[in-house]
Amino acid sequence: MKYLSWGFILLVFSAFLLNLDAFELRKGQKTERISGSAGDVLEDDPVGRLKVFVYELPSKYNKKILQKDPRCLNHMFAAEIYMHRFLLSSPVRTLNPEEADWFYTPVYTTCDLTPNGLPLPFKSPRMMRSAIQLISSNWPYWNRTEGADHFFIVPHDFGACFHYQEEKAIERGILPLLQRATLVQTFGQKNHVCLKEGSITVPPYAPPQKMQSHLIPPSIPRSIFVYFRGLFYDVGNDPEGGYYARGARAAVWENFKDNPLFDISTEHPTTYYEDMQRAVFCLCPLGWAPWSPRLVEAVIFGCIPVIIADDIVLPFADAIPWEDIGVYVDEKDVPNLDTILTSIPTEVILRKQRLLANPSMKQAMLFPHPAQSGDAFHQILNGLARKLPHGKSVYLRKGEKVLNWTAGPLADLKPW
Ligand SMILES: *[C@@H]1O[C@H](CO)[C@@H](O)[C@H](O)[C@H]1NC(C)=O
Ligand SMILES: *[C@@H]1O[C@H](CO)[C@@H](O)[C@H](O)[C@H]1NC(C)=O
Repeated sequence: MKYLSWGFILLVFSAFLLNLDAFELRKGQKTERISGSAGDVLEDDPVGRLKVFVYELPSKYNKKILQKDPRCLNHMFAAEIYMHRFLLSSPVRTLNPEEADWFYTPVYTTCDLTPNGLPLPFKSPRMMRSAIQLISSNWPYWNRTEGADHFFIVPHDFGACFHYQEEKAIERGILPLLQRATLVQTFGQKNHVCLKEGSITVPPYAPPQKMQSHLIPPSIPRSIFVYFRGLFYDVGNDPEGGYYARGARAAVWENFKDNPLFDISTEHPTTYYEDMQRAVFCLCPLGWAPWSPRLVEAVIFGCIPVIIADDIVLPFADAIPWEDIGVYVDEKDVPNLDTILTSIPTEVILRKQRLLANPSMKQAMLFPHPAQSGDAFHQILNGLARKLPHGKSVYLRKGEKVLNWTAGPLADLKPW
């Protein structure tokens, strides 16, 4: 085994002395406020700035699906369920649709799990279409704008493209009926057909209580330099290799499996959350989609996220200073990851750790229940409020139609 570099030892030592990575701030501990407008945005309060009308749908669109498979409450797409619950009791909710700024349709399109718990979005387009048909015939509001003042939570891998493989997702494109709606989605990548302008990119769901219960004392030093747990290859879905994670994860493994600075493996230990709190850098490479729950976990656990996903659009990018807290590495530069990370000056690392300790940033990554001010629910509402007032183009002239109800794959037109 190679000797660790002096820089690294110093780094661990100084991080230890400064104790900068607590989940919650202890009294008197200094944190760095997010500077400028981003910090203001992060601390905005949406109450009083928008009114949301929640459509009442038959329970087969939401509650019944969840009853069939309660695992949906814990998977990384659970934001669609929690957002529904949150809005039902939120002060921004209005029972009078005439005064609503935004309309929300509670439909759980990602809660269709295989016996192994894999969410497959193959029925989602039909389900979504069915829900839209229902609201457009029972209320006058959809036809008024064809969805331009409606928002939908679509947390699947590629949002409203409804496929877990990028190629197929691109081929499908965003569901035609959602073309005018505002999409609240986990997927974010620049210049991609599955991210349209005006969408709100949100973090994936990671269980807040569970994470909190794994917190370790902040005085424990970060003795792991680079940490990663997860797949490097997805042999089942990508037998020839190279397609999964566009080869980036395979490159991490091939280049660094024997490097003592890299604690990487496919095994998911019970100490996963604790290990992240003992690490300086946490790799957040793309998988099938550019994003993964690691982004949230890294922020919560104060581990500097190393973002390997070219052109990714990160959650709440107008409020979270991702460039300051994380490290971006191009997919093609993965073979130099060791050099890139070891050459970051200690003071830069300490600053990132200090910013990561900011509790309002952690809050923004979570969907806690009950909700808390500044959490991801509130950031979503802030994003919707910032899009108000609606422009003239939102409202259609009487009888004007823009959407094509028969566009898209024929199979999507079958009743749900
Ligand atoms: C909305 O438009 C569709 C046809 O485009 C029509 O079938 C439906 O009845 C309309 N909804 C309402 C509430 O008038
Ligand atoms: C709607 O989409 C269908 C299927 O792609 C197409 O055949 C039809 O011409 C479109 N209608 C309009 C009015 O564009």
